[in-house]
Amino acid sequence: MITEIQIHKPKPMVSINDAGVFDGTSSIGINIKTLEANGPVLITRFYIDGLLLLSALKRHLNNKLPNTTFKEQRAYRGAYHKMSNLVLIEIVAHRLHVKKAPAIGWLEKLYPETADFFLTFPQIQGLNSAWQWYKNGISIPLLRNKIHPYYGTYFPTRFDHLELFDQWLKRYNGPKKTAIDVGVGSGVLSFQMIAQGFQKVFGTDTNPNAVVGLNEFMGATKLSRKLELDIGSLFGKFDKQTELIVFNPPWLPESHLLDNMDQAIYYNENLFPDFFEAAKQRLLPNGKLVLIFSNLAQITNVTKGHPIEKELAEGGRFLLEKCYKKKVKGASEKTKRDQRWRASEEVELWVLIHNKITLLQSEN
Ligand SMILES: C[S@@+](CC[C@H](N)C(=O)[O-])C[C@H]1O[C@@H](n2cnc3c(N)ncnc32)[C@H](O)[C@@H]1O
Repeated sequence: MITEIQIHKPKPMVSINDAGVFDGTSSIGINIKTLEANGPVLITRFYIDGLLLLSALKRHLNNKLPNTTFKEQRAYRGAYHKMSNLVLIEIVAHRLHVKKAPAIGWLEKLYPETADFFLTFPQIQGLNSAWQWYKNGISIPLLRNKIHPYYGTYFPTRFDHLELFDQWLKRYNGPKKTAIDVGVGSGVLSFQMIAQGFQKVFGTDTNPNAVVGLNEFMGATKLSRKLELDIGSLFGKFDKQTELIVFNPPWLPESHLLDNMDQAIYYNENLFPDFFEAAKQRLLPNGKLVLIFSNLAQITNVTKGHPIEKELAEGGRFLLEKCYKKKVKGASEKTKRDQRWRASEEVELWVLIHNKITLLQSEN
């Protein structure tokens, strides 16, 4: 049975009721009052009018709400999020229905079934930035070609961990028949492995956008025969053992205090135990399990725990072969006052191997 893939995208509104109108001539104050009363406001003239209304809204909230403590900042962000998403813009024939608007290809690509609809202005801003990244591509040091991240897909903006992985891959002298890249994202680690001679890489991601985007990017090229993908959790449909398993997981534990539960950034308490249990089954007896991690959660006091150290201390499944650490570049100079912790930020590359004793026990 083929089930339709549900790409993550902002939900289109087919109609709106009783919206106020901001056409650049109407009073900003009145429109802000409308937003405060939970009423939508439609941008009808220039694209820039939307930007003007949102900056006026920020000024208004800055004057009205305290914004210093963590709790206040959260309330401020909540109010801004709610009110800014009442600012709407119309899309006609897959184009923004205002003058001097950017062309955003996602409107056609992500909404083939509806040409005319409404989205909120912040959603359009997100789609616009994502379109620039996708269309122009992003250069990643260490990769020969640019990546073109699909809408809603994680891509790296700092590269220290990729350097660590590159150094490790260059020294790796084991077999290079197959590898698994758990949480493939925009594919950077898989591309590194393929560049270093791996014949076949299997990649998974729970985020359908990552897999759809990578498949589209590869098309029918030679690359597409080397990288096979599946939408699914952890190892997805791939159950054959491989000589290398790589996972650059989310680095922060999820917390009920956060509004944003992005699965590329936050992990839940089951992710690591489930991953190590499944990895034990999927790793060949002499294979290597490579995890990329960081001390970010520890130095920002989010948690004292470290899921890989915990597995090594308590899991009994794997032994540590080596842990490489690297200071994050540019972290020590000119750090802002509230970001002093950045000076001690490090990325980590953990290389684990089977604990042969428990491996034998589980085979008997
Ligand atoms: C930090 S990003 C790393 C992406 C990419 N490997 C890289 O290094 O740039 C983590 C990725 O893991 C994916 N992910 C999170 N939980 C997952 C799970 N249970 N199974 C598979 N992928 C998952 C996220 O959607 C995200 O794409």
